[in-house]
Amino acid sequence: MEKPDLYSTIFKRKSIRKYDLTPLDENRLNKIKDHLQTLEPLHEDIEIEFKILSPDMVKRRMMRKAPHYIAVFSDVKEGYLTNVGFMLQQMDLFLSANGLGTCWQGIPTLKKEAIESSSLEFVILMPFGKANETLHRTSSSQFKRNPLKEISDIEGADDLLEAARFAPSAGNGQPWFFTGDEHLIHAYYLKPNFVRGLLTKKYPPIDVGISLYHLKLASEHFGRETEIIFGDPGNTDVNGYDYVASLRLK
Ligand SMILES: Cc1cc2nc3c(=O)[nH]c(=O)nc-3n(C[C@H](O)[C@H](O)[C@H](O)COP(=O)(O)O)c2cc1C
Repeated sequence: MEKPDLYSTIFKRKSIRKYDLTPLDENRLNKIKDHLQTLEPLHEDIEIEFKILSPDMVKRRMMRKAPHYIAVFSDVKEGYLTNVGFMLQQMDLFLSANGLGTCWQGIPTLKKEAIESSSLEFVILMPFGKANETLHRTSSSQFKRNPLKEISDIEGADDLLEAARFAPSAGNGQPWFFTGDEHLIHAYYLKPNFVRGLLTKKYPPIDVGISLYHLKLASEHFGRETEIIFGDPGNTDVNGYDYVASLRLK
């Protein structure tokens, strides 16, 4: 499998929900396993584990079956959900760029045996396999996303923010907001209200991790050096949002 151009994949990837159930060959699976070990973390101090599981380990809860699943387990520390979003999105793009279908899946869970196979907490699944539907979008108009002005008030960084805007999110909720300037971009997520939060509060921090990865990838694509820092600027213009991290661009 290739180490492909992930940046261009941002603008054609889509969630795949119909799979050819034929398992991938051993060689391909090993390359995917190897790639899982190369993912860049957002928080280096948070222990994380990725396992490739077969569908018999998954309680699918109405979701269609896939031949393979990446299961993510993590230490529960501040920032762990955003770290999962940031890391696993690298797999979403890698698999899609290599001609395989994949989709974030928060609804299914694991059978007890699989949950107990790790000392870390089970967080989320990502099925993958050969797609039984069109793999890629062919035009940006096929993405249902909020306009740039709704997700940022930064001027002069549209090329970078456009990549963040295209990120996938749970229920396509797009809970992110970016503020700051073209040299230092602060990422926030919209805090869910009490009722929504009861069921779905784990998703916004994951979603913003995904979007932050797209932002970093785009910045590097345009030749900028990047550094992610953590220091809430305490911006009062973003009430209702929780601060996550900032991207410094050189
Ligand atoms: C954290 C997260 C959880 C998700 N959970 C599910 C899920 O359980 N089932 C599903 O069909 N799609 C799920 N999705 C996929 C989203 O519905 C999808 O990304 C969004 O609608 C945007 O569509 P796109 O990925 O095709 O661009 C999830 C996405 C994210 C980021």
